[in-house]
Amino acid sequence: MQQPQQEVDMMGKLVSLCKRRGFIFQSSEIYGGLAATWDYGPLGAELKRNVKEVWWRSNVYERDDIEGLDAAILMRPETWMASGHISNFEDTLVDCKSCKKRFKAEHVTGKQCPECNGELTEARQFNLMLKTHLGPIEDEGSLTYLRPETAQGIFLNFKNVVDSMRRKLPFGIAQMGKSFRNEVTTKSFTFRSREFEQMEIEFFVKPGTDEEWYHKWVDERFGWYARFGIRPENLRKRVHEANELAHYAKACTDIEYNFPFGWSELEGIANRTDFDLKQHSRLSGKDLEYFDDDNKDRYIPYVIEPSGGIDRSILAFLFDAYREEEVKGEKRVVMGFDKSLAPLKAAILPLLRNRPEIVELAHKITDDLKKDIKVRYDDTASIGRLYRRQDEIGTPYCITVDVDSLTDKKVTVRDRDTMKQDRIDVSGVKEYLRERFVR
Ligand code: GAP
Repeated sequence: MQQPQQEVDMMGKLVSLCKRRGFIFQSSEIYGGLAATWDYGPLGAELKRNVKEVWWRSNVYERDDIEGLDAAILMRPETWMASGHISNFEDTLVDCKSCKKRFKAEHVTGKQCPECNGELTEARQFNLMLKTHLGPIEDEGSLTYLRPETAQGIFLNFKNVVDSMRRKLPFGIAQMGKSFRNEVTTKSFTFRSREFEQMEIEFFVKPGTDEEWYHKWVDERFGWYARFGIRPENLRKRVHEANELAHYAKACTDIEYNFPFGWSELEGIANRTDFDLKQHSRLSGKDLEYFDDDNKDRYIPYVIEPSGGIDRSILAFLFDAYREEEVKGEKRVVMGFDKSLAPLKAAILPLLRNRPEIVELAHKITDDLKKDIKVRYDDTASIGRLYRRQDEIGTPYCITVDVDSLTDKKVTVRDRDTMKQDRIDVSGVKEYLRERFVR
C-alpha cells in the first residue's frame, strides 16, 4: 500500500533532523543497521532523560500515593508462566512463499501476499518474547526471557513494597525501564521497536473501587501529555472493544497521538483486576493478599495500570515540536519543545570569537550556568546561523555576549519562540533563567 506523500515528507524530515542533529541513530548503523533498534545520540539522550525525569517527578514526587521501583530485567521464567505471556503473548503470522516477507495475519486479507501477490502460508502462532540463557549451559533449565513489560517486576515486589514502606491501599508503584519484544511489524521509525523503554504504574486498589480509579487514571494520564506540550488536538482517548482486550484486562483505554502515519497508541490504561497477583500467588505458593488493618479485611487488590512507552512519547514530543516558519524571507525550523524537555536549556554565544574578553565572559557565564542546567557554548558560526542551529534543536534561550557587554555588563537573551530579545545584567542571568524554568 502506498503511503500518502505528506506522511512520507514529515517522517523523512524528522528522521533526517534526528540523525543530523544527534537525536536518534539507527543501531549498528556501520554494519548495515539492526532492524527496529535505535540509539539515542547526545541530544536524544538528554531528551530521553528529561522525559523520564518529568514522568518520575509528576508521579513519584508530586503524588503521595506512589513509590518508585527499579527491578531487574531478568526474572525467573515462572513469572511469565503466571503472567500468561508464555501462552498468550503471541502474534498470528503468515509468510509469503515467494518473497519470504512475513505479515501479521490481521494485516492481510485473503491468501495472497500484499507486496508481490505470492501465495501465503497457513497462519501460525509466534511468541513475541526474546529468549536468553543464564549460566554456562544452554539447555531448557537455563532458559529465561528478556522482560516484555516492566509490570511484572512490580507485581513480584508488591509485598516487599507494602511491608518496607508500610503502605496502605490505594497506592501505586512506578517503574521505568527497558522491555523487549520480537516485533514482526517494525515500520514507522521508533514507534514499534524490539528494544524499548516503558514507564508503568501499577496502582493497587480495593476491589469495587477499581472503576473509579480507572477513570481517574485515564484523565490524569491524558492531562500529562498536554501538560508537557503535546497539542490537545493531537491527542485522543480510544476505549478498547471487548475483543481487543489483553488476556489480563477487564477494560482498557488508549491515549493516542495523531502521528503522520495515523492515530496510534502512546499509552494504555488498563484495569488488570486481580489477575496478576492471583496468578503469582498461585504459582509461587506465597500469600499476596493485602490485610486492610482499618476494616480487618483481607483481599487481593485490583490493579489499574497506566502503561506508556518512553520512546513513543519521545516520538510524539518530536513530531509535535517540529515546525517550519518563515522569518524575513528565510525558512527556520524550530523544535518547540516544552522547556522542561528541551535537551539544552540555553546556548551561550559570543558575538565575536576573535575578542578574547568577549570569549572569556561567555565562558564565565557558561561555567556558572552549567552547574545547574545543560548549556552549550558555541562560537563556530555567525550569530544568525548559531540562532538557527539552536532553534532546530529546541534550545529555549540564546545568550549573546557582545562588545557592549564588556562595558555595560549586560547580555542579550533571545527567546526561541517569540525571538524577542531582552537585555539583562550578567549577574542576573541565572535568576532570569531560573524564573523561566520553574513550573
Ligand atoms: N504492561 C502493559 C503493557 O505492556 P502494552 O500496551 O503492550 O501494555 C504499553 O505496552 C506501552 O508500551 C504502549 O502503549 C507503548 O507506548 C509501549 N510499547 C509497547 N510495545 C512497544 C514497542 N514495540 N516499541 C515501542 N513502544 C512499545
